[in-house]
Amino acid sequence: MSERLVVIGSQWGDEGKGKVTDYFACRADMVVRYQGGNNAGHSVMFNGHKYSLQSIPSGIFNPNTVNVMANGMVVNPESVLVELDRLHAQGITDYQLYISDRAAMVMPWHSALDGAYENLKGGKLIGTTKKGIGPAYSDKYSRVGLRMGDLLEPEYFAERLQAALDQKNMELKMLGLPTYDFKEVYDRYMEIAKILGPRIVDTSALINKALRTPDKKILFEGAQGMMLCIDHGTYPFVTSSTPSSASVPVGAGISPKWINNVLGVAKAYCTRVGEGPFPTELHDHIAHEIRERGHEYGTVTGRPRRVGWFDAVVARYTSRLAGIDNWALMLFDVLSGLDKVKICTHYELDGEIIDTPPSTISKLARCKPVYIEMDGWKEDISGIKSYDELPEAAKAYVRKIEEVTEVPVGVISVGPDRTQTVIISEKLKEF
Ligand code: GDP
Ligand code: IMO
Ligand code: MG
Repeated sequence: MSERLVVIGSQWGDEGKGKVTDYFACRADMVVRYQGGNNAGHSVMFNGHKYSLQSIPSGIFNPNTVNVMANGMVVNPESVLVELDRLHAQGITDYQLYISDRAAMVMPWHSALDGAYENLKGGKLIGTTKKGIGPAYSDKYSRVGLRMGDLLEPEYFAERLQAALDQKNMELKMLGLPTYDFKEVYDRYMEIAKILGPRIVDTSALINKALRTPDKKILFEGAQGMMLCIDHGTYPFVTSSTPSSASVPVGAGISPKWINNVLGVAKAYCTRVGEGPFPTELHDHIAHEIRERGHEYGTVTGRPRRVGWFDAVVARYTSRLAGIDNWALMLFDVLSGLDKVKICTHYELDGEIIDTPPSTISKLARCKPVYIEMDGWKEDISGIKSYDELPEAAKAYVRKIEEVTEVPVGVISVGPDRTQTVIISEKLKEF
């Protein structure tokens, strides 16, 4: 029987999913992205080179790994071509990549609308990546969207495009934005179809075949993080998909029965890029120190990330929602050198102690974190190869996270490079 591993972000994104996926992808037969699009920015580093991926799965560096962009994603084909060009320029030319025929397509007007909708919110921006992800998912659910497989049938594509443009051009005109010419769009997308066409397949069939093959290792790479989930996140300051293990069955076209090993990627502290409540956010010199040491600037937009202490209320919540079996505790090296470190175990809301996030952002914004404070450690841990080499105070921090979240730490990451990874969980060592 195959082995499966789901890698998901458990905070507000940018937890290090790209790094973790790449580490396991070296041994995986298949890596599948199943939600989100090029709003993601996943960094991978090995042999002294750093790579940034947006919609292409992080298994792309291993020629033996089949990379799949599955049906739950919103795929911007122009952006895929740019990403592939960038990879080619960096010497990555030998890879396997397939795109689902059922994946929703991000069209040029989606990013224009993303920006316009933000501007219409007055001062209350979501702070989206402006990649058109929300408008593309909206069109999917409004059933006016185009899908990648449409590109393979020119007449059908023309029909769908005309229907979409009839509606979208009207909307664009109302918003004072430039409209799109049918012929120009049609011709460009037929060119794209020539390039990407051979990669557009029924990926569910591909994944299911692998699932049924003995000894195949299949990795599902989440994008964003659970607190950005459209259902369970800090709505409306969220993305427009569900970055959970729960999305894998629908987003990859497989049975939920296959999901049995979920790795929740969490920074040893927290970050958030974009707007929205963030209970453990820091505004002092510690935030500055962590931001500079962790290079906490957005991979996609370059925006400085907001920084805060590890939030176990969030960790317990996301673990409950996504069935997290182990944490991958990331950027642990960044905490070295601090006198004291803190973990938020509960919130105080209007004088009451609560242990799970409230549903509204108005309440969440009023939550005050309740912390436990622990001794920090001074040692540089970026070169350690095993858990035993950690300073005692760092070990105590790891054990405290396990205790307050009731989930074991299976992976510790002490630097951006593939080699700076310590696997603790026996099950994960075997993957
Ligand atoms: P993702 O979106 O979850 O894949 O995360 P990003 O790639 O957007 O952001 C994580 C950042 O942290 C990237 O710049 C990584 O290279 C870097 N990184 C990942 N793990 C570690 C780590 O353990 N230590 C340090 N110092 N940096 C790390
Ligand atoms: P990865 O996969 C961090 C945030 C945006 C914004 C909100 C909505 O790299 O972890 P969207 O463009 O999705 O409509 O923006 O979600 N956001 C992310 N933040 N990491 C990401 O992806 C993100 N993808 C979206 O900043 O607040
Ligand atoms: Mg990122």
